[in-house]
Amino acid sequence: MITRKLAVLAAAAAAFTLAACGSSASTSTSTTSAAASSAASSAAATSQASSAASASGSAAASGSAAAGGELPAADPAVLKDAVIGFAQVGSESGWRSANTDSIKSSAEEYGVDLQFTSAEGDQAKQISSIKTFITQGVDLIAFSPVVETGWDAVLQEAKAADIPVILTDRSVDSDSSLYQTFIGSDFIVEGEKAATWAKGEFADTDKVNMVVLEGTTGSAPANDRATGWANVLGSDPKFTTLASQTGDFTRDGGKKVMEGFLATYPDINLVYAHNDDMGLGAIEAIEAAGKVPGKDIKIVTIDAVKAGMEALAAGKINFIVECSPLLGEQLFQAASGVLSGQEIPARVVTIETTFDQEQAIAALPTRLY
Ligand code: AHR
Repeated sequence: MITRKLAVLAAAAAAFTLAACGSSASTSTSTTSAAASSAASSAAATSQASSAASASGSAAASGSAAAGGELPAADPAVLKDAVIGFAQVGSESGWRSANTDSIKSSAEEYGVDLQFTSAEGDQAKQISSIKTFITQGVDLIAFSPVVETGWDAVLQEAKAADIPVILTDRSVDSDSSLYQTFIGSDFIVEGEKAATWAKGEFADTDKVNMVVLEGTTGSAPANDRATGWANVLGSDPKFTTLASQTGDFTRDGGKKVMEGFLATYPDINLVYAHNDDMGLGAIEAIEAAGKVPGKDIKIVTIDAVKAGMEALAAGKINFIVECSPLLGEQLFQAASGVLSGQEIPARVVTIETTFDQEQAIAALPTRLY
């Protein structure tokens, strides 16, 4: 086990790094620095991510990387044999499988001794894994929190044991002094992009009856994707939400909830699914009800995993907002920085794009997940 060195993060001078990891294997980053207090940081991060997100299409498409303030390059000598505990959410979706693969393959590449656990969607199980990592005295703990709240005690425990923590994919509502960095998407921006598409798509329609397939209740992506949608369409009287229910980010959940919606509401025009898997489940339910997904009922989803992109290419989904699961490289860059005592950015926002049918057809041959 290597000697652990805690990185000193000056929260008041945190840099926000925008890390690109869309559909390409390589990692490019563009960065904006910003002074931030912990209270102001999430608002600042959101607005910076918004501008990065609008620039993301071209940055991601060109594969270009802007310079400055990025995560340090991973140092193989620091990572080799480092013991890193990773507590995964579970295996609810295609996105999650791709995320797990990305983390495991990057760990292997750097020779990290990765202690990987899966909570199967259960926060208590995830907390228990993290406590085990603390007892083992691992060099660093990383996790993707099942839900946003309830992490203070275990994060304080890790801090008391001098074990640095990195959040990937999802955020928590705990004080940012309890973890080194948060690497992942801006889910609010994703919701805003989905709603912006819907606004344009239904520009010539007088009334839109929508149903929502929500992600896991209490999770950051479910909370923020709802907020993002409301930011754009919340006060638009044309859009009526007939019903909104969790499908727990699973295909089965999406199918079952959609079956219930179809039985109750004969006049649904639009499904907003918080991920591809639930959208794919909705397609099955819509077809079983004798309707045509993508035509009779339009569908917008988030993720852009291969199965979702195939449904988009086939015209069964109408629009997908990308959420990249390829976070492995950034995680180990951050871990390497922390373990070698370097200052790393307090927030790393994944740069992502969006896809319509033609863009999905063009992207599919080289899609990695
Ligand atoms: O936290 C990321 C979300 O979790 C993905 O959008 C979803 O597919 C996954 O289950």
